[in-house]
Amino acid sequence: MAIDVVRSVDELRTRIARAGRVSCVPTMGNIHDGHLSLVKLGLQDAPFVVTTIFVNRLQFGQGEDFEKYPRTFEEDCEKLEAAGCQMVFHPDETVMYPEPQVFMVDPPSIANKLEGRFRPGHFRGVATVVLKLFNMVQPQSAVFGKKDYQQLHVVRHMVRQFSLPTRIIAAETFRAADGLALSSRNRYLSTAERDEAPRLGQALREVKAAVEGGDRNFEALEFAADALLARHGWHVDYVVVRSRRTLLQPEADDKELVVLGAAKLGTTRLIDNLEILAP
Ligand code: PAJ
Repeated sequence: MAIDVVRSVDELRTRIARAGRVSCVPTMGNIHDGHLSLVKLGLQDAPFVVTTIFVNRLQFGQGEDFEKYPRTFEEDCEKLEAAGCQMVFHPDETVMYPEPQVFMVDPPSIANKLEGRFRPGHFRGVATVVLKLFNMVQPQSAVFGKKDYQQLHVVRHMVRQFSLPTRIIAAETFRAADGLALSSRNRYLSTAERDEAPRLGQALREVKAAVEGGDRNFEALEFAADALLARHGWHVDYVVVRSRRTLLQPEADDKELVVLGAAKLGTTRLIDNLEILAP
């Protein structure tokens, strides 16, 4: 295989030294077309793209799917190579966490809201591993998907606050033909659940259409989306309209908004969001 697979930090540093500008695509593997669209954006920014594959225990809560998270390394490398990615950095836990990680990035209170409310400590784990990955790869840019909107927000904020020399590039959410946002967790869905799954995106589209039509009664719209999903068997964690800039409740004149949703279908938890430009 032509793609360079690197597992240690020393090796990574040696091989990258002559690469010039580097763009990094952090992932947990189980590569799909959403990840590959990030690689493509990375390649537009830099001639050399390093995709990292590491299932980060620190960002999984108790009872979450760390153990059963899909690990498909060989197929991942084939897909990444076909997409033009030059290098895969695949550290194991002894490389990423050679000793218990006791210094942690402590993100601000937004990290305890939305996803953070349902996944306590999640963004602390994400921010910590992303900072470590940035220090290991030292990329000039890094690509993150809007699919994980709050993650993108937290990473951007961290980069600003710690003056990290890495430019963050945001990628649009890549969807299947029926509108379902691609996710490694989609593979947990049964056939019937997979057929139902696009309704989360549809519910968000209805909120977006209403707000773009001038309706700012966010609570009523959120409630209607929640009720629609519940009627079809979903357990809704949240559907909320927020300011894109702060992810807090929009001010009266805030036009750059985003509707974010998280809901469970059976045992599988899905998230999605859509940016909204209010009139
Ligand atoms: P993972 O879920 O593997 O996602 C890796 C990157 O791919 C993230 O930036 C995510 O937003 C993006 N992505 C996933 N599905 C996408 C889709 N359908 N369209 C566009 N982008 C998509 O997110 C993580 O891993 C981890 O938290 C990580 C940042 C690697 C830290 O461990």
